[in-house]
Amino acid sequence: MKIVVVGTGYVGLVTGACLAEVGTEVVCIDVNQEKISNLKKGILPIYEPGLEDIVIRNYKKGRLHFSTDLADCIRGAQIAFIAVGTPPGEDGSADLKYVLQVADTIGKYMTDYLVVVTKSTVPVGTAAKVDACIAKALRERGEDLEFDVASNPEFLKEGAAVEDFLKPDRIVIGVESERARTLLQQMYNPFLLNGHPILFMDVPSAEMTKYAANAMLATKISFMNDIANLCELVGADVNLVRQGIGSDPRIGNRFIYPGIGYGGSCFPKDVKALIKTGEKKGYNLRILNAVEEVNEDQKKVLINKIKTYFNGDLKDKVFAMWGLSFKPKTDDMREAPSLVIIDMLLEEGAKVQAYDPVAIHEAKHMIGDKITFAEDAESATKDADALLLITEWPEFRLPDWTEIKENMKGRVIFDGRNIYTADEMIDNGFEYFGIGRYA
Ligand code: UGA
Repeated sequence: MKIVVVGTGYVGLVTGACLAEVGTEVVCIDVNQEKISNLKKGILPIYEPGLEDIVIRNYKKGRLHFSTDLADCIRGAQIAFIAVGTPPGEDGSADLKYVLQVADTIGKYMTDYLVVVTKSTVPVGTAAKVDACIAKALRERGEDLEFDVASNPEFLKEGAAVEDFLKPDRIVIGVESERARTLLQQMYNPFLLNGHPILFMDVPSAEMTKYAANAMLATKISFMNDIANLCELVGADVNLVRQGIGSDPRIGNRFIYPGIGYGGSCFPKDVKALIKTGEKKGYNLRILNAVEEVNEDQKKVLINKIKTYFNGDLKDKVFAMWGLSFKPKTDDMREAPSLVIIDMLLEEGAKVQAYDPVAIHEAKHMIGDKITFAEDAESATKDADALLLITEWPEFRLPDWTEIKENMKGRVIFDGRNIYTADEMIDNGFEYFGIGRYA
């Protein structure tokens, strides 16, 4: 089976590498020449645990190939994944420019029956547009080659993407034809040894499933953030409330951690895009509008606590910031709450000394020299008036508090992820502020 994966971003590269890992012949395509030459040298464009190893091993074994030439590589392929970016357009809806360009090239150069699979997160109706685009390109060539378009949304979490691909909870495939369904079932069989299902459905339902999943998860977070804020006002501790409600299996104890708002390349973009889809159809998704509003406000919650603590005067105060990426185990800075918090601190005339285990390179690229970057967690705290915990990387869980106290000028911690408790911090000689707790 020859598979082509177009787009070597986070989704495409993980898909290509994991398909090669089970023995399939895969070509990963990207228009970016530098990315492709780097991948051939084993240099990856993203940090994702376990991915480098799989990419290098399968490239060396000759099962995973990299190329910029889609026109050439599509010849003889049986399955082509479209995993290129769908950045939000000006109005927040997904921009399909790149997806449709790829569809056009596929139509121009395919040589055999092909299943074209949309893997990027795309609005309902996109598979139909891809279908029309390929059919048009074939017509213009005077060819009537058979093809099918399927929708196979991904549910990978950054930081656990390889694991999620190799051992999926479920695989969702929207497909109309039996021939395409059989081929995709065959391709995914090696990943279903754990007994988890492939859910075959119609194409619009598969496209909608992806948005509904992310929108539901974002809703859980904003709901918990709202409850956390209320907990503070009524003197309750959201940590206890979380455990209390999470024990009910109908609610579940996962994904109900309050914090400083969700970030990343998926939830913010997908929630906005779904709201837009609703608007275009004349339907107001009231809950999702509120989810977004709560999330925007939540990014400011820590700053409000900081301002109150310092009586509104942050001028020349030094803030040690632990964690920059939008969540642990990734270097992704897209829509990271840290960016909003840094901007607000700088606006108030404060200084920021930041440390992140892997995202510093990305952060420098986005933030520049407006803040300083430390080599390790301890040195970020040098002469700091306060310590801000922004991303819950494991290495921040048990630091040497005696050394940190000696380093710091102030004695206060603002914990945006509730990884510490007020009691332990008071024992360590600090004042402590979390999210939705008594302190
Ligand atoms: C999310 C989904 O979880 C994946 O299933 C989906 O495939 C992916 O988007 C996508 O559409 O590609 P991801 O963005 O990698 O994955 O990260 P999550 O682990 O879902 O975290 C998203 C944000 O929610 C982070 O900012 C995280 O800190 C925050 N979060 C998560 C909370 O504030 N509380 C929680 O309880 C969980």
